[in-house]
Amino acid sequence: MNFLRKHLLDIDHLSKDYIYDLLDGIKQIKRKEYKSNIKGKDVCALFYEDSTRTKLSFQKAVTNLGLNFHNLDVQKSSLSKGETFYNTIKTINSIGMDLIILRHFSSGACYFLANNTASSVINAGDGSHAHPTQTLSDLFTIFELDKKFEDLEISIIGDVLYSRVARSTLLGFLKMGSKINILGPKELTPHVITEIYESLDKSYKNKIKFYEDFEKPILDSNFIMALRIQKERFDSGSFMNFQTYKWKIDSDRLKTFNNDILIMHPGPVNEEIELSHEIVHSNRSVISKQVENGVHVRQKVIEELLTNE
Ligand code: CP
Repeated sequence: MNFLRKHLLDIDHLSKDYIYDLLDGIKQIKRKEYKSNIKGKDVCALFYEDSTRTKLSFQKAVTNLGLNFHNLDVQKSSLSKGETFYNTIKTINSIGMDLIILRHFSSGACYFLANNTASSVINAGDGSHAHPTQTLSDLFTIFELDKKFEDLEISIIGDVLYSRVARSTLLGFLKMGSKINILGPKELTPHVITEIYESLDKSYKNKIKFYEDFEKPILDSNFIMALRIQKERFDSGSFMNFQTYKWKIDSDRLKTFNNDILIMHPGPVNEEIELSHEIVHSNRSVISKQVENGVHVRQKVIEELLTNE
């Protein structure tokens, strides 16, 4: 079994061609042009952090596929009796699951799980590391609008430092050939991230540009991806003062953007910090589409991993 086809832990190892194959497959699922053959598989949700859209959309995807969904309520599990993550993994392994969907507060926890279980693993978000199915939802939301990734500039605004969505989404769009603008407080938009991507592929050099204000390239970009300020990952005594966060997009600011610009956000939104309530629910926002597409994306990914068993 190919490790990369057994698990989905991050975006790094997915080629552009393979991502296109996935996007085509997701489109077929969404149009109901494809019926799955996998049956009788057991899928376990193991969420050490809270979630609304990721967990529920995985549950719906599993149900749509006619598979068995088992939710381990971590807060009510033997974690409270001192059971370690390793022993929880081994216990689940003994019970026997075909697939474990893990959300965890520690970056890299999904790799630890994958190395210590016989099950396939999907990373549903680990610390500040990666959130690959969110990225595939974001890519698919643009793909189904018939946009050519190579022609697009995406402006990512806000907390890049702590955001697993940022790390995966940046890489996803770079792989597909888009240009990236990063905007936000310099403490949350570290330039060191360019080195990470250049170490993966030299062609990404010069495809990421940094800004501290709403300059012309940001205003002219095709998509804004606002990121949630990850308050829970800030140390106490953090430099960040939410009252002075000055990158919020509201109706007045929207008027300064190009007329076709569309607004994305992985959710949940800190309303009136990253985006105004009005913008979240405006016709420029594709946030609901990102959520809707998450179900089809997760259905495709589950099928891909379990078919390749
Ligand atoms: N985007 C995202 O991961 O949202 P949830 O935390 O609600 O799953």
